[in-house]
Amino acid sequence: MAASFGVSKGSTSFQAIQEERREQAERSVLISCPAKINEKKFLDELSKHGTINKHFFYSSYGTYAVVEFSSRESIASLKESTNIPAVQHESAVPFKSRLLSLKQTGSGSHPIPNFQEQSPPSINDLNKLLSEQDSIDEQLQCLTKALQLTEENISLRFLVCSLLRDIAGAYFPECIIRPFGSTVNSFGKLGCDLDMFLDLDGIYASNQKTQGSGLSLEYQVKRGASERVVTQSILSVIGECVDKFGPGCVGVQKILQARCPLVRFAHQPSGFQCDLTANNRVAMKSSELLFLYGTLDPRVRQLVFSVRCWARVHAITSSIPGAWITNFSLTVMVLFFLQQRSPPILPTLDQLMGLAGPSDNCVIEGNDCTIVSDLSKITMQSNTDTLLKLLQEFFEYYGNFPFKKSSINIRKGKEEIKPEASALYIQNPFEITLNISKNVNATQLERFVVLCRESAWLLQQGEVLNRSSNQTADSVPAWGFAALLLPSVTSGAGVKSRRKRKLEPASSRIKNLLDSLKIKGADTAAKKGST
Ligand code: GTP
Ligand code: MG
Repeated sequence: MAASFGVSKGSTSFQAIQEERREQAERSVLISCPAKINEKKFLDELSKHGTINKHFFYSSYGTYAVVEFSSRESIASLKESTNIPAVQHESAVPFKSRLLSLKQTGSGSHPIPNFQEQSPPSINDLNKLLSEQDSIDEQLQCLTKALQLTEENISLRFLVCSLLRDIAGAYFPECIIRPFGSTVNSFGKLGCDLDMFLDLDGIYASNQKTQGSGLSLEYQVKRGASERVVTQSILSVIGECVDKFGPGCVGVQKILQARCPLVRFAHQPSGFQCDLTANNRVAMKSSELLFLYGTLDPRVRQLVFSVRCWARVHAITSSIPGAWITNFSLTVMVLFFLQQRSPPILPTLDQLMGLAGPSDNCVIEGNDCTIVSDLSKITMQSNTDTLLKLLQEFFEYYGNFPFKKSSINIRKGKEEIKPEASALYIQNPFEITLNISKNVNATQLERFVVLCRESAWLLQQGEVLNRSSNQTADSVPAWGFAALLLPSVTSGAGVKSRRKRKLEPASSRIKNLLDSLKIKGADTAAKKGST
């Protein structure tokens, strides 16, 4: 049996993990297979080109296999044995990529291979799974397990980056296409987009090495009026190549006027929605920071996954850009909340900077982005809060946060006076004069606050926490976290109506809700089960 996907135990720093995955992807191929694939014959055939380290099958508009060889020579040998297809009435672009197609591997009966799931469970399946757990803490843990990216899915993401690098490499042989955002920050959910950036730093680095030779080959190098203009022209050309030559890349859109210019497309064989940017080192550093926070304590990821899921179900976040809170902002809000616990569950960004060694120094476009890379230097405080307590307090904290006057700052780990009038101000962790939630308007913030209050109130009702009292024959038993995913009482179809109870007027329900929050400090008995 082939080894499982993932990184070796030795790779612990963020950079080392990314490098290992990137290197594995360079030794891998993506193969479109017949639906009734004979796994043994398939592997026998491919093994003629070298040793196979790992492989897996998945289904997305057809059957596919990811195969990782132990050496890159195998890829060259495999490519040599492939043909550009002859198609009738059309002509094929003669580009030999590592996306291959296998038509037949013999006939006869054979066992069907295991297919690795690449999509998240449906909300119904998730609710069922949640309802089967014994406590809210178990619910949040199992939700994280069910939604998080699998090792196979992460490998596929790195492989797609590597396949695109083959295209961009025709122009920029030293370039690397690196995934960032939720693919690598430890908060990725199955089905999330694939954010990538074209890293050309290798070219600048080799430029520095040859300085002083007196020889410049590029005596008439093309110039642009600014770095942004250069980035736009590079992305425009790469976008064109992806569109014209990129196997499986469809719906290519160049969005070059955006604050961060990008090329957006769908990669059909993987099913990923892709955003390719360039010159985006700060975003990569933000991903590393989030990864670090996600690694420090398991409750961080469990709370972030749960809050993200809750926000998505209630349309607080959306896959379409707009005036709503993004997953990135929401994640920073959870991190900030965890810094406010007593004792704090997470260190501040300034503390992470203070622990950094000389090799961690990192300045990007004038911003000091230094953070410690050796996690063993971080001393964690002994906070033993349960996930239930954290979830409850998260909702209470943001249900009552003074958004009008205060900003959220994970660098200092404390509220600060808002420097400008945006509805929600979350200081960009590395570009400290920027607000990562500038897009959020007052209406969307209000919806978030109201939902936080409502969820805090629901969690104060003992019956929501009680598994057995919510199990009825005629409805899906929704208790604990699953009850928080039911339609909001303030948006019409109420939780109580779902459970076929008498519906009070919305205004009185909200009033009750607000009253219960006001008296919450004094009235802890409410938490313990009275309705
Ligand atoms: P998903 O919603 O699961 O895709 O989460 P994500 O973290 O990947 O978010 P998204 O795809 O919107 O953005 C990718 C990355 O870009 C984020 O992880 C951040 O590092 C960065 N990013 C996104 N939005 C902002 C922003 O408003 N400001 C800054 N500075 N960085 C951002
Ligand atoms: Mg993303």
